[in-house]
Amino acid sequence: MARPASRFVCQSCAAVYGKWQGRCDSCSQWNTIAEDVTGHAGGAVPGSGEGRRIPLAPLAGTAGAPPRLTTGLAEFDRVSGGGLVAGSAILVGGDPGIGKSTLLMQVAGAVSHAAACVYISGEEAVDQVRMRAERLGLSGAPVQVAAATNIRDIAATFDAADTPRLLVVDSIQTMHLDSLESAPGTVSQVRAAADVLIRLAKRRGFSLILVGHVTKEGTIAGPRVLEHMVDTVLYFEGDRGHHFRILRAIKNRFGPTDEIGVFEMTGAGLVEVGNPSALFLAQHRDAVAGNAVFAAIEGTRPVLVEIQALVAAAAPGTPRRAVIGWDAGRLAMVLAVLEARCGISLAGRDVFLNVVGGLRVSEPAADLAVAAALISATLDDPVASSTIVIGEIGLSGEVRSVTQTGLRLREASKLGFGAAWIPARQAGSRDVDRADVPEMKIVEISRLRDLASLFGRAGGAIPETVR
Ligand code: TYD
Ligand code: MG
Repeated sequence: MARPASRFVCQSCAAVYGKWQGRCDSCSQWNTIAEDVTGHAGGAVPGSGEGRRIPLAPLAGTAGAPPRLTTGLAEFDRVSGGGLVAGSAILVGGDPGIGKSTLLMQVAGAVSHAAACVYISGEEAVDQVRMRAERLGLSGAPVQVAAATNIRDIAATFDAADTPRLLVVDSIQTMHLDSLESAPGTVSQVRAAADVLIRLAKRRGFSLILVGHVTKEGTIAGPRVLEHMVDTVLYFEGDRGHHFRILRAIKNRFGPTDEIGVFEMTGAGLVEVGNPSALFLAQHRDAVAGNAVFAAIEGTRPVLVEIQALVAAAAPGTPRRAVIGWDAGRLAMVLAVLEARCGISLAGRDVFLNVVGGLRVSEPAADLAVAAALISATLDDPVASSTIVIGEIGLSGEVRSVTQTGLRLREASKLGFGAAWIPARQAGSRDVDRADVPEMKIVEISRLRDLASLFGRAGGAIPETVR
């Protein structure tokens, strides 16, 4: 028998090397490359001589929508594209301690009243799982639990006609296949274990949810190495300092991506947040210099967030630029345009920018709100608290139109915002549907200079209508 081949695999991105090196050329991470012994300790690789002819089918035909199992957790169902698809595999990734086990126990608990459901923990003993369920008020839910890590045992248990409809495996990094020589958690173990479970789910038609820890060090393989194998990839994100958590779809063969679900972590588990704007704007009341409200679009939903800027005298040397929840490069651009096109220079001052609540905003549509917050902070002149600001800024200082303005305005109007600063209509572009928000005072802004001119007027807060 051939000696098992040895190779070196990056535990972060799964790039393969012939020898060890300190830094992965592919993902630029340090110390993520580990030796990986391939080769099955006994199994033969099937040769092409043993193959069968595969049947080919025409593309045309009726497929229909896949049958789905709705969980009853509205936020989870929306992110997964309308519920769990039979025979599909979902990967839920996230930092350790963010709440993945809590979320999936709640999903299992919600599903269990309608369909048989099994939760396998490779990290906790059955009693610990029970204690969590009790804390979540789920001790009465008909979920079956097991503490197991051996994939062969799990496959033997569920390769039967009476499989559950949902199997949760928490976490894939603790599972191992005894026919492989590498340690649990390595790329080859994680992939092989996932492969067995995914094929089993397809064959038996149950929905599989795998938990994957995101790891900073390369000691165990991260969920990225599984992304291409599963049908749906969801990441559970959040900041330990904040209570809310966001479930985000990264890939979905059965639904849209970029959809988010918002939850709040409480003493009794995760509570769905149906109206995230209300959560993110919880403390937004009075007009304070440096604050501006932006209407973001997350997936299909508008979410209002408050952007705060603080401009302070800098100590000698390079001034500080600290950004939370937005892109630092984008801030540098807005600062440069403010200086070049409006003559507002913050070169010698510290600038702090924060998206309140810990949400990460990645849309360029937030540029104008960031600029408004910065100008407001610089001039100590607040934007009226009932105003929202949206628009993208170009390098020549022009304010560019953004997508879905109507949706953003409707959400703001619903939450009681009475005014909006938006990009000026471009010739030929479709007008914002103002009939939907007749009570809103709309200020159109075509250049960053026009935004700056709204500030610094006598008499406190900026009037809502400057036409
Ligand atoms: P957990 O689901 O174990 O995280 P993960 O599986 O992603 O590692 O959640 C861990 C944190 O959640 C833990 O710090 C405690 C907190 N938590 C609550 O605040 N409320 C609860 O009801 C539960 C079960 C956990
Ligand atoms: Mg866990």
